[in-house]
Amino acid sequence: MSVVVRLDRLLANMGYGSRREVQQMVRAGQIRLDGAPVTVADMKIAASQDLAQRMTVRGHRLDPPPGVVLMLHKPLGVTCSHKDAGPLVYSLLPPRWRSREPAISTVGRLDKETTGLLLLTDDGDLLHRIISPKRHVPKRYLATLARPLDGSEGARFASGTLMLEGDEKPVAPAVLEPLSPTTAHLTVTEGRYHQVRRMFAAVGNHVEALHRDRIGALALPDDLAPGSYGLLGEAEVAAIFAAPEGPAASN
Ligand code: URA
Repeated sequence: MSVVVRLDRLLANMGYGSRREVQQMVRAGQIRLDGAPVTVADMKIAASQDLAQRMTVRGHRLDPPPGVVLMLHKPLGVTCSHKDAGPLVYSLLPPRWRSREPAISTVGRLDKETTGLLLLTDDGDLLHRIISPKRHVPKRYLATLARPLDGSEGARFASGTLMLEGDEKPVAPAVLEPLSPTTAHLTVTEGRYHQVRRMFAAVGNHVEALHRDRIGALALPDDLAPGSYGLLGEAEVAAIFAAPEGPAASN
């Protein structure tokens, strides 16, 4: 469901400039709707996603209106923060998108040295639904380990009794799927700080590389290059909450 808003406010909140600047763009005939110039800057308009197909600003298609959900292939070395020093994931998005209100934020975080599937959205309700511990949305990681698995890890991760250093509660049961002596998928339903790295540390191993490839039934597509992102449609957002196929579905 889309909300009805004033056009100048909508575009200002989407980072196109102040309301006054948007009004000037309207006067200059630079904003077009369904092929015709908009003449009333404070016209009421439904901020639906299809507006991006119907409206142009200075000849360019409108950015996605509020209600954006993005899938980004996080590369190595960028931080999931709005303010840390060093390269931020937000620098991978168009500069105008960084002045949007509501802001586009990452859904949880991946460590600077973790790669893979990262969701971003300006929809606070959706964000909380995905990260809520009550929802148990499974997140699958591919871990590359310093030492070979010894065969005991799967049971320890599944037990619901594994304690991580500094935590007061054991981690919820997680599913390990060994792929080779030193690589495995691990599916977790919580989002604790450095969780996967700390879980392997708790069983005497060390994660050398970590990549998230799935959230719920939503998989990172092979053709989404590191640093690239795409807009998610309704079916893909629904897949976040759908059970994935395979052993991790028993989580
Ligand atoms: N677990 C980690 O250790 N790091 C991440 O980035 C995500 C999960």
